[in-house]
Amino acid sequence: MIDNALLLEQDHDHLLHPLHHPSAHENPLIFESGHGVWMRTIDGKEYIDGLAGLWNVLIGHGNSKLGDTAREQMSTLAYCSSYVGSGNVPAIRLAEKLAGFAYPTLNSTFFTSGGAESNESAFKTVRHYWKRKGKPNKTKVIARTYAYHGITLAAMSATALKVYWTMFEPRVPGFLHIPTPHPYRFEGELKAGETIGQAAARALEEAIIREGQDTVGAFIAEPVQGAGGVVVPPDDYFPLIREICNKYEVLFIADEVITGFGRTGEWFGLNRYGVQPDIMSFAKGITSGYLPLGGIQISDEIQDVIMSSPPAERWMHAYTYSGHPTCCAVALTNLEVIENEGLVARAGQMGKRLLDGLKALETEFEVIGNVRGQGLMCAVEFVADRATKAPANIGEKVRKAAIERGLFTRAIGDTIAFAPPLVISADEVDQIIQIMGESIAEVTK
Ligand SMILES: Cc1ncc(COP(=O)(O)O)c(C=O)c1O
Repeated sequence: MIDNALLLEQDHDHLLHPLHHPSAHENPLIFESGHGVWMRTIDGKEYIDGLAGLWNVLIGHGNSKLGDTAREQMSTLAYCSSYVGSGNVPAIRLAEKLAGFAYPTLNSTFFTSGGAESNESAFKTVRHYWKRKGKPNKTKVIARTYAYHGITLAAMSATALKVYWTMFEPRVPGFLHIPTPHPYRFEGELKAGETIGQAAARALEEAIIREGQDTVGAFIAEPVQGAGGVVVPPDDYFPLIREICNKYEVLFIADEVITGFGRTGEWFGLNRYGVQPDIMSFAKGITSGYLPLGGIQISDEIQDVIMSSPPAERWMHAYTYSGHPTCCAVALTNLEVIENEGLVARAGQMGKRLLDGLKALETEFEVIGNVRGQGLMCAVEFVADRATKAPANIGEKVRKAAIERGLFTRAIGDTIAFAPPLVISADEVDQIIQIMGESIAEVTK
C-alpha cells in the first residue's frame, strides 16, 4: 500500500523537479500506472495523457512487449562500453535499422540519452566537420525564435525561449536567432508580395551574410516547433532553407526530437517537403519514452569526414551510455510496434480529427485566437481580442479546468498543446475536444 501523504511529503523534501519552483508543485499529480492513452494517479484518478508524457509516449502506456524486451536484454548483457574498439548487438542492429530510414543520405548514427545531448553532439559535429574542412571559424549556429532545443548550456543557447536563460546566463557565444515562420505571429519583416515562408527564409540568408558566411557553421530548426507552442511552418519554407544552406555552405540540423518517428503523420518531419537535413537529432519517440535514448544521424558526407580524420583529429566525442544495449533493444521493439500497428498513418487520421474538433471550438469561443496543428501535434491559443491578439492570460486556468475533467496536458502561456499517444482512438480524441470545450466555457463564463 502506498501512503499518499507520506509520498507527497518525501517528494517535497527530497526531489528537485525539472523547472523547479515550489509554487508550481503544491498539489502535484503522482502517477503510478498507465494503459494506452490513460494514466492513473496514486489516488486512483484516471487522466487522458494529452501530451503523451512529454511528447514521447508514441505507442501508449503499458505495452508489455517493451518490458519483455528490456527484461530479456538486461538478463543477457547489462552494459558494455561502446567506445571505439567495442560494441554490442542491439546498438549495431538499431543503427542498421535506422540507416536511410529517415532520409536516404543519413546512414550513420551516434546514440545519446536524450534530446539536449543529441543537439550538443550535433553542434560539436558541426565544429569538427568545419575544422577538418579547413574552415575552423564556421562555429556560429543560427536558430529561430520560439525554438526549444533542450537546456544543457549549448542547447539552452540555441533555445530561443528566454525564460530558460534568465538565471543561467551568460549563454554560450555564437548562437543567434532569426524569426520563425509563425503563420499566426510572424515577427519578421514581410516585403510586398512575399509569403511568410519566403520572408523567414530570407531572414536566414540575410543573417548568414551579416554574420559572414565563413563564421556560420549550421542552422538548426524543429520541423514543427513544439515547446514554443506548436508552430507549423508554411509549405514553401523548408525547401527554401535547404537551398540557402547549400548556397552558403551552412549545415542544416533538423531537430526531430519531437517530430521523429511518426508524430506529424509522416515518419519524419521534413519528409513532406522532400527536404533532407545534413544532421538529424532525435530522442523521445525512438523508445516511446520507455527508456532514455536519443541520437544524431549524419549525412554520408559528414561520415566520410569523420572516417578519414587522422588519429590526432579524431571525433573525440562520447557518452558512457551511447548505444546502451537495453535502450537500443527496446527502441527496436518500439519501432516494430509503430510499424505493425500503422501508427504513423493513425497519427495523420487522428490528428485531423483532433484539429477539426478544436477548430469547431474556435467558432464557438471568441477567446480562441488560433488553432493549429500537424498530425498529432496540435495547439489552441487564447487571446483577449482577435484583432490585437493581446494575451488572454487564461492558459493555466484552462489547463487546470481540463485536469479537473480528466485531461492532463501543458499550457505554454496562453497556448494549450496536445500531443497524445498515437494509439489514441476516435472516441478518446472526441473526449479531449469535449473536455476542452467544457473547460473553456467554465473559465470564460
Ligand atoms: C525539439 C526538442 N529538442 C530537444 C529537446 C530536449 O530533449 P531532452 O529534454 O531529452 O534533453 C526537446 C525536449 O522537449 C525538444 O522538444
